[in-house]
Amino acid sequence: MSSSCFGLGRVLVIVAAALVSVPSTGPEAWGPPGVQYGQLGETVVLLCPGVTLGTLVSWHRADGHALLGTARSELGLGQRELVLEQADSKDEGTYICQSQDGGTRGSVTLQLGYPPSRPMVSCRASDYENFSCSWSPSRVSGLPTRYIASYRKKIILGTERGRPALSADPWPCLPELPGAARCVVHGSEFWSQYRINVTEVNPLGASARLLDVSMQSILRPDPPQGLRVEPIPGAPRRLLVSWAYPNSWPLQPHFLLKFRLQYRPVRHLTWSMVEPAGLEEVITDAVAGLPHVVRVSARDFLDAGTWSDWSEEAWGTPSPALTAFGPSTRPSERPSETETLTQMQTQVQAQTEMKPERQVLPRPSLQPDSQPLTDHRDPLEQVAVVASLGVFSFVGLAAGALALLLWLKLRANRKGAAPKPGFLASMVQVKTMPVAQIL
Ligand SMILES: *[C@@H]1O[C@H](CO)[C@@H](O)[C@H](O)[C@H]1NC(C)=O
Ligand SMILES: *[C@@H]1O[C@H](CO)[C@@H](O)[C@H](O)[C@H]1NC(C)=O
Repeated sequence: MSSSCFGLGRVLVIVAAALVSVPSTGPEAWGPPGVQYGQLGETVVLLCPGVTLGTLVSWHRADGHALLGTARSELGLGQRELVLEQADSKDEGTYICQSQDGGTRGSVTLQLGYPPSRPMVSCRASDYENFSCSWSPSRVSGLPTRYIASYRKKIILGTERGRPALSADPWPCLPELPGAARCVVHGSEFWSQYRINVTEVNPLGASARLLDVSMQSILRPDPPQGLRVEPIPGAPRRLLVSWAYPNSWPLQPHFLLKFRLQYRPVRHLTWSMVEPAGLEEVITDAVAGLPHVVRVSARDFLDAGTWSDWSEEAWGTPSPALTAFGPSTRPSERPSETETLTQMQTQVQAQTEMKPERQVLPRPSLQPDSQPLTDHRDPLEQVAVVASLGVFSFVGLAAGALALLLWLKLRANRKGAAPKPGFLASMVQVKTMPVAQIL
């Protein structure tokens, strides 16, 4: 680098340092009075408070360390300012200045760190009404730091369905608690897009991170709750699994959740998975006599966002088979089986009691699912059945007539050539094909 360039850089640095090294006073004060902040590795200018320009000042450190350990401090010696080049952590501490006429004495405490860097921000919605954004520093500045979070909604302007514009005024995204690294946008709109601005501010400046989010991409429900696994009496390969919506999911039925359920015998490693849409599911291929572990996760019904974490696991063991021949069962086995069953049930109960189940639930989703699937399709199926019956009887009649014709023809031909053996079969096959296809 050329020396002129270096010199210019230094001047800029000094100007910048002078700008930020104004002792902090007033409502925006960053720390106790008399503290000055500077950037590590840069030039820092300390001003002796209460001393008028042109007064000669002597400086020394409160801890007695030598001020002139390096030549770089000489620049400011004997003047109102003390200039520290390439300040490092050894320069931090309290400096005492005194005018050479002995009249004024002041002190400045220097704290060094880095300017703000753009914070890491991530947003998440555990329901479709509110979403929250949290942040963390991408570099520790070592200085007192504040965060200002705001958001704008993206709106489509006029009839032009082009690029969305941002709403004019940003709204504050207020922290849940003072000082929390998380804020909540209330009353968000599911189909809207938002631009989040989280600005890190410290005595050396400000740095903003902008993040565009849409509810549909950040939606991630909390895991379902109240998972229960119950045996079905007399069904040794079945387990009835039920669960509830997460407490955080709003009660209005506009947006439903769908679920995925995983289960495996406790000793096995691989999960089986089903995707029930309702709040319960019957596992039909459980391994008889083995305890099973089950877990469930949720996602927006229309596939917005991502799957929730897995719920807490619950255990259950299928009930033993009903024995048709009572006497053949040794009576000694019975109590132990019942015992394990009760143990299991109390275990399930205990797990359920740990997290109290919410009584109010978005029941609408349960209703269609608790009914057999065929209920919905009844009219359609009836039409299909009637139609296929009609076609079937028609084809049957036609086949009968054909068979009669063939039989007559065969009888007539009997005197002449022998009939082709595959002829009748292929005719019947061709005629029955449509029936098979329809059914
Ligand atoms: C982000 O927020 C900060 C603090 O409110 C503000 O000064 C800055 O202008 C905002 N940036 C943008 C691009 O909106
Ligand atoms: C969203 O925030 C509002 C407050 O603005 C609150 O009343 C509502 O319960 C919240 N919704 C959910 C699902 O937590």
